Amino acid sequence: MTAAAASLYLGLISGTSADGIDAALVRFHFADPPAKARPFMAGAFAKNTPRLEVLAARTFAYSDSLRGRILELATRDGTIALDALGRLDVDIGAAFAQAAITLLDDADIPRETIAAIGSHGQTVRHRPDGASPFTLQIGDPSVIAERTGILTVADFRRADVAAGGQGAPLLPALHAAVLADATITRAILNLGGIANLTLLTPGRDVLGFDTGPANCLLDTWAARHLGVACDENGDWARSGTPDRALLSRWLAEPYFAAPPPKSSGREVFNLDWLDARLPPGIAAADVQATLLALSACSIADALRRHGRDTREVYACGGGVHNAALMDALRHELPDMRVDTTAALGLDPDYVEAVGFAWLAHARLADLPGNIPSVTGARGLRRLGAIHAARSL
Ligand SMILES: Nc1ncnc2c1ncn2[C@@H]1O[C@H](COP(=O)(O)OP(=O)(O)O)[C@@H](O)[C@H]1O
Ligand SMILES: [Mg+2]
Repeated sequence: MTAAAASLYLGLISGTSADGIDAALVRFHFADPPAKARPFMAGAFAKNTPRLEVLAARTFAYSDSLRGRILELATRDGTIALDALGRLDVDIGAAFAQAAITLLDDADIPRETIAAIGSHGQTVRHRPDGASPFTLQIGDPSVIAERTGILTVADFRRADVAAGGQGAPLLPALHAAVLADATITRAILNLGGIANLTLLTPGRDVLGFDTGPANCLLDTWAARHLGVACDENGDWARSGTPDRALLSRWLAEPYFAAPPPKSSGREVFNLDWLDARLPPGIAAADVQATLLALSACSIADALRRHGRDTREVYACGGGVHNAALMDALRHELPDMRVDTTAALGLDPDYVEAVGFAWLAHARLADLPGNIPSVTGARGLRRLGAIHAARSL
């Protein structure tokens, strides 16, 4: 069975929010014979069929203890013992493997029908700029391949960083392949811990970059003051009043005005960042309201600055469930249609997982997975290392 002919792929990712593992089982409908198209070109697909079908998808929450270990590792600066890192790598790999096995068993899909797993893993550090740039995703792919018996492609970001790129965002390849329109500029907006924007303009290079925080600061502040994992629907943010002067000071953070390519994570937008920028005496709910405005305004500014003639914005990621955030985006972007990727036939909760299934396919088909105009890499690169499956 050649990689190009096989069409079932399983994508796994846990994003910056570290809320859990998103798993999606995807069937791609490729052209026959397979087109030697670049992965971000639509020509890879069969004509007159849907480009892909999501056969099963689910989010597997991390256990509290695993999430706690991840957040500790991802936010503490440089003081983690190698033993703790090594064990977490293997434990996350085991959790990813179990997510894959459960998804397939529940859907009654035999493992041997899966061409590959594409596992993003869990980012614990992302420093693509400066001396010795690096990005580190853990969740041992050898453990995933061993436990599932399925060939596993992982470590998608490092080849791009080695080629001078940001290693992020990588999802624009999927967006361009399956969500672009032939005549109008569309933006795809992923509202994860961090917000990533992809600009799809017919006939022009794809643009894409991280605009800054989407949910990460909202989650952190809600955890500190309400003891909850997230501000459900953004109700708490709605109960407060944004502080306009404070918002302008926050928007002066150099990251927002920096030109793309750029990517970000918890390394910048974390509780320390916030604590260093809080005026005394401000009510906690007003901080939350201002943080929500920060996410919405920084995204809207990025669209106004770089959005070409964007007319439609399709959001995905967990932030689509934050109704207050979606309302704020609509308010900031009155001249654009703001919807979710569900309107394009793709469940907004699983776009990222589908993206890593897509990148696994690209790797096995020996096609590049990065878009240099997005990441800033010196050129197209095949992304990901292949971890062979044991015989089932
Ligand atoms: N019902 C909801 N109300 C508010 N926020 C939500 C809701 N559901 C999900 N979210 C937000 O979405 C985040 C998870 O989104 P996700 O796309 O998985 O991000 P990441 O890729 O960073 O893991 C949560 O941390 C939370 O902030
Ligand atoms: Mg997530």
